[in-house]
Amino acid sequence: MSQPLSAVPTRALAGTIGVPGDKSISHRALLLGALAIGRTRITGLLEADDVMATARAVAALGAEIRHLNGAVEVTGQGVGGLRAPTEDLDFGNSGTSSRLMLGVVAGHDMQARFTGDASLRRRPMNRVLNPLRRMGLSLAGDDRETLPLTVQGTPDLVPVVYPLPVASAQVKSAVLLAGLHAPGCTTVIEPLPTRDHTERMLTHFGAEISVRDQDDGGRAVSVRGDAELAGASITIPGDPSSAAFAIAAALICEGSDIVLEGVLMNPTRSGFIETVREMGGDVEMLDLRLEGGEPVADLRVRAGALQSVDVCAARAPSMIDEYPVLAVLAAFAQGETRMRGLAELRVKESDRLTTTAAGLAASGVETVIDGDDLVVIGKGSVPGGGMVETHMDHRIAMAFLTLGLGAEQPVTVDDIGMIATSFPSFVPLMTKVGAQFR
Ligand code: S3P
Repeated sequence: MSQPLSAVPTRALAGTIGVPGDKSISHRALLLGALAIGRTRITGLLEADDVMATARAVAALGAEIRHLNGAVEVTGQGVGGLRAPTEDLDFGNSGTSSRLMLGVVAGHDMQARFTGDASLRRRPMNRVLNPLRRMGLSLAGDDRETLPLTVQGTPDLVPVVYPLPVASAQVKSAVLLAGLHAPGCTTVIEPLPTRDHTERMLTHFGAEISVRDQDDGGRAVSVRGDAELAGASITIPGDPSSAAFAIAAALICEGSDIVLEGVLMNPTRSGFIETVREMGGDVEMLDLRLEGGEPVADLRVRAGALQSVDVCAARAPSMIDEYPVLAVLAAFAQGETRMRGLAELRVKESDRLTTTAAGLAASGVETVIDGDDLVVIGKGSVPGGGMVETHMDHRIAMAFLTLGLGAEQPVTVDDIGMIATSFPSFVPLMTKVGAQFR
């Protein structure tokens, strides 16, 4: 049953909110905890559907997970020590969970069947299967490239040097996780730096990682195999991809002044804030600090006029999940915003190039999809008043609810159910700073 919701034009958001834990880092904390020997204590884990899919999967493979004094404790089985699941692994809507887990299963002598919801079953898996098959993973049954898939791992993986055909942190991470099980060094060469949480966290758990910048702007990341990981303590910083909706809402709702606490400022994730500042957005960084090995800050955001911007393709990996909400901001800016090189948006939870453009059209905003670029014609204000189809995509739902807060007329999204995959507290937190929904 779909759950529609309308965002009502709102003025002057005010107050302070804490941003829930980063989704990418939460997945990795559970996975590495399961591969480590001993206990891993995680504070601030994002308890959203996608992360719960990872928790269920690692538990099905023999890791123990329990809540303990406000934290989550994982008791791992060591690299190569997980056992075959007795049931299908259902990853729901989560691409990260399923793709990273393929890298983990690859190094174990086990068969596992991977499945997910209708959105995940449409998403390409060949991008991870290609390198993992080179390392020794085999596919049982049909030679499919989408879920459901049955795979057979092996304790005899071979290391590879793998240049990524697309800048994808999920593919990089899957190969590095498999590389833990292979003898010698496994290397991934990325064309542009993508989020580096896997390599940071692997180092924290005691793996040997080396990172070399390439002359062409890319990076080579290597992991030494036959690794032993030791249980560790992890603090999960606030998710900048979730914070982006609150930042955008404060920028477009006249008179707003809010503070977002504890937002991850890792440079591989901060492209959205950089771009917003280029548009003239007032985002002030307060108390930049290190928490659990990651840079974190509080962000003060105040409403104000925005200008259009030309976003180069090289910035995409550092803000890949923020384009729907950036496109919303572009609609409120004056002038034509061009976001370049967005081919990857076509294979997200929905085809986000199309769903973002359609949502803007339904809200009275003119857009053009020009090859892999998205062009938004900003007029400084947005009519709203429409119904937006979310296509099982949490970020489309949140981006267009955000748009509705700043528009002239309410905006309705057809289904908010998927918001629980990444940001279950989105509506209550936004309401806390004054947003109105009905
Ligand atoms: C993620 C990587 C990105 C991003 C996704 C989370 C990760 O996907 O879109 O939401 O945690 O590694 P790609 O690797 O497909 O770019």
